[in-house]
Amino acid sequence: MKRILSGMQPTGSAHLGNYLGAIRNWVDMQDEYECFYSVVDLHALTTRPSAEKLRSNVLELTIALLASGVDPERSVLFVQSAVKEHAELAWILSCHTVLGDLNRMTQFKEKTEDDPGVANAGLYTYPILQAADIMVYRATHVPVGEDQNQHLELTREVARRFRHHYGELFPEPAAVNSPTPRVLGVDGQTKMSKSKGNHIGLLEEADEVMAKLRGAVTDPQRLRRTDPGCPEVCNLWSLHGSFTPDEQQKEIHEGCTTATIGCVDCKKMLCDNIIAHTEPIRERARALRADPDGVMDVLRQGNEKARAEASATMALVRERVGIWDV
Ligand code: TRP
Ligand code: SF4
Repeated sequence: MKRILSGMQPTGSAHLGNYLGAIRNWVDMQDEYECFYSVVDLHALTTRPSAEKLRSNVLELTIALLASGVDPERSVLFVQSAVKEHAELAWILSCHTVLGDLNRMTQFKEKTEDDPGVANAGLYTYPILQAADIMVYRATHVPVGEDQNQHLELTREVARRFRHHYGELFPEPAAVNSPTPRVLGVDGQTKMSKSKGNHIGLLEEADEVMAKLRGAVTDPQRLRRTDPGCPEVCNLWSLHGSFTPDEQQKEIHEGCTTATIGCVDCKKMLCDNIIAHTEPIRERARALRADPDGVMDVLRQGNEKARAEASATMALVRERVGIWDV
């Protein structure tokens, strides 16, 4: 049985980077795997959000996931903090994690180099909690974007160390690479992310999307409308690749390189295509938002299923490591 575990931080509603890089893939994987999908609020605590913000972000992300097609009839959709075993296993695994391995994590270095004030111990041991997320369900596969490869490698290492010490219990989870490489933000510089403020929300309306696109960086060499552009170096061209029909993509490519289409028109087309693609998602999200109790019920049921699985694993773990379970 192939089992997936994946998690997403509730940092606000999902953006197009989350959607193209992960959520779409989560939806598709439901056909092939038994899937556990988690809204990882304990991980989000590393940025110390306010209680209200964190709580509403969990609900918002859940709505975005359900609206996009994560199907609670087929998959287990749950909130990380509702399953206490994640934190328990994280502690045990931390005793089998070598500091040198943690010190190599580039994500920690990147997040803390500009602002050492954000470097709390939770952020440092974040990959151990991630390993626990995966291992407590004994997942065999984990979908990863390129920035999470290193964290998954650490999980595999921790699983090997555990096996060495206590014998076979956890599979070494394999990476399932996301079909979409990283999606850049509208600044054209870095990966799309909420914290960078360079994102386009999955559930945003046309005027909001267009406002973001208007300010987006395109081919930096194309200074005037009469200059031919180079789509390959334009960040928006890659978004066309995800949202624009092939025929229209050809026209845009031709128009851009011959300076017969301006960037403003190109952005309008992109906006229309994004909105057309996301409209059914927005519509489902509206219905879900009108029924928060229904959404909470979905989570309650998912949490229940996740707990059953995690507590079965932990009973075995406690026995292996010599913790009384009385
Ligand atoms: N660290 C992941 C990210 O930022 C989120 C995450 C937490 C995760 N636990 C996980 C991803 C377990 C995969 C598996 O994207
Ligand atoms: Fe980018 Fe479109 Fe402008 Fe070409 S026309 S540089 S593809 S925004």
